[in-house]
Amino acid sequence: MNHPNTESLCFGPIEHAPRGFWRDLPRPFHVLAPMEDVTDTVFRRLIARWGRPHVFVTEFTSAEGLFSAGRSRVISRLLYTEEERPLVAQLWGKDPNAIFRAAQEVQRLGFDGVDLNMGCPVEKIVHKGCCSALIENPMLAREQILAAREGAPALPISVKTRLGFRDKRTESWATFLLETGIDVLTMHGRLAKDMSKYPADWDEIAKVVELRDQMGVSTLIIGNGDVLSLEEVHQKHQQHGVDGVMIGRGIFQDPVVFHPQRNYNDLPLEEKLRMLRDHITLYFEVWGPKRPFKIMKKFLKVYLQGFRGAHTLRMAAMECEDTTTLFALLDQWTPPTHDEDPPSSPNSP
Ligand SMILES: Cc1cc2nc3c(=O)[nH]c(=O)nc-3n(C[C@H](O)[C@H](O)[C@H](O)COP(=O)(O)O)c2cc1C
Repeated sequence: MNHPNTESLCFGPIEHAPRGFWRDLPRPFHVLAPMEDVTDTVFRRLIARWGRPHVFVTEFTSAEGLFSAGRSRVISRLLYTEEERPLVAQLWGKDPNAIFRAAQEVQRLGFDGVDLNMGCPVEKIVHKGCCSALIENPMLAREQILAAREGAPALPISVKTRLGFRDKRTESWATFLLETGIDVLTMHGRLAKDMSKYPADWDEIAKVVELRDQMGVSTLIIGNGDVLSLEEVHQKHQQHGVDGVMIGRGIFQDPVVFHPQRNYNDLPLEEKLRMLRDHITLYFEVWGPKRPFKIMKKFLKVYLQGFRGAHTLRMAAMECEDTTTLFALLDQWTPPTHDEDPPSSPNSP
């Protein structure tokens, strides 16, 4: 262990992890990654109906924000329905007291687990010493884990992080986290400073599994980065030993990625348009004017892909300023019969 601060640590006996619903999941299990402005209660409910992952996680939620003047906005991230279980609430913050109180609240609200974000690389957050900055401040990371455990003693505690901040610290950082006795560790195979620029390093993720086995702890290891299908989930499990795999951006390419038999590309056009309509309807039922329409528009690219005329329809849909005009556009639209606008992929402009 060469992490600068780890030598002075003295941990109590490691608890028998994992606890709660994690214990009963199949191997490999799959998780829909937390994604801000994407994996809200609306999208999670729809994904639960179309092809559900084994586990859902909320968007990251500020522990300090929960107890600030902006509470009503922040707490909307913790809105959920029974359809979304098992559901883990992801928290981020700096002050362990805030993490303690937020974890208490998460337990009171009936979530199935608490996840601590120690991976987000966004500058304005890292600047405050939160999220991926904790990789360089392990003592605070440990305090947060202990605070979450005290605040939510009935819930399993997980951490989602990266291989390092500027340089790879996989071994020292993962050892440090595993020694705290967390139930689950999600390792996104990139450095914080690299954001999402380079491919995820699954060999490094495999090292975390080896470490866990050498240490004899039972923390589950979830690998994350660049996985696009259930076949890949199984490959990663076999080749790299992870217990579970988290899929994030893969859901944009295939919103039914967790369905064992289906693939978005192969769905009939009517079904693709029905999925979009369901999303718009539920979005406005749940959020009304509370969340801006432009957040909803980000999803147009997800649904309006892979059929003739998709590109032109998407461009027109992007011009709509509200639900009524968007629904009117979809009602009037008929697919082109000629070849001018061939089926598009999510990577088309
Ligand atoms: C739009 C977006 C929002 C994200 N928001 C969060 C978040 O709230 N919490 C978090 O831990 N990670 C967040 N992430 C990171 C993802 O959870 C995931 O770690 C990352 O996308 C890598 O996985 P992938 O290659 O499967 O996409 C976000 C990523 C994206 C693209």
